[in-house]
Amino acid sequence: MYRHIKELQFTAKPEKPDALFAAKFQEILGGQFGEMTVMMQYMFQGFNCRVPGKYKDMIMDIGTEEIGHVEMLSTMLARLLEGAPSEVTEHAVATNPSLAAVIGGMNPQHAIVAGGGPVPRDSAGVPWNAGYIVASGNMLTDFRSNAAAEGQSRLMTSRIYNMTDDSGVKEMLKFNLARDTFHQQQWLLGIEQLIADGFSDLIEDSNSEDEDQVQNHTFWSFSEGSQAGEGRWAQGQTLVGGQDIIYQAEPVLLTDDTGLLPPPDPKLFATYDGSQGMGKPGDAAGARLQGAQNVVNKVKDALS
Ligand SMILES: [Fe+2]
Ligand SMILES: [Fe+2]
Repeated sequence: MYRHIKELQFTAKPEKPDALFAAKFQEILGGQFGEMTVMMQYMFQGFNCRVPGKYKDMIMDIGTEEIGHVEMLSTMLARLLEGAPSEVTEHAVATNPSLAAVIGGMNPQHAIVAGGGPVPRDSAGVPWNAGYIVASGNMLTDFRSNAAAEGQSRLMTSRIYNMTDDSGVKEMLKFNLARDTFHQQQWLLGIEQLIADGFSDLIEDSNSEDEDQVQNHTFWSFSEGSQAGEGRWAQGQTLVGGQDIIYQAEPVLLTDDTGLLPPPDPKLFATYDGSQGMGKPGDAAGARLQGAQNVVNKVKDALS
């Protein structure tokens, strides 16, 4: 259950409206690495956290904080849009008539769609989408993704910070920058905690006993004259398992499979030179057969 209180987490008052800046500001609200993304990412990670106690509580704490950031930024946007588009248009017409044609460069959706308010979109008008989030059920993978998201999010906030002189906007962004600084560390420390508690050994290596035991510590170079071998990633010991990293300067063939495909279904009209013989006409019987086989396998699995 969530309760709402009226106060924002931090003041979100610009000195004056600025519809042009508002269009750019949308990026840190509804962009791929905006506050909406980290909010939804942490919430879904929290909803799917199977370790009760400090982990679940930490993820839900930070997710809930991000709801507050979405609220702060949305409030800031609505205030930046005060008076738009009429004042923006008047100003644009007065200073440069050619600009008036594009409403002075403001995002027209701020007026037309949202009536002077924020939109869950990025600075180019692309709608926020759920494909931006990572919530894998594996905390190591999730925490890494979270640290990266906070890094990109902070970079964008920092760039937006340099695009305005408005002291009110800057005051709020100083708070957001600081939170992004700590949140990055919170996730990195989370990884340390996972390791300390025995949940992880630094990298995602499930089924590691089955994986290729040479390729799991080999650096492949694919470029002539590459200097990549000078880096730590190509020499010394692996981070996990203590193996000596193999530097393979030239790619080698591990197979004679040339990727040749079977002849196409004639009814699909794929371009084909006939060299593989006649194609088999598909009638979806194969798919039905496979479906039946899947059911049989499931029953077998359930009984075993
Ligand atoms: Fe945030
Ligand atoms: Fe954050």
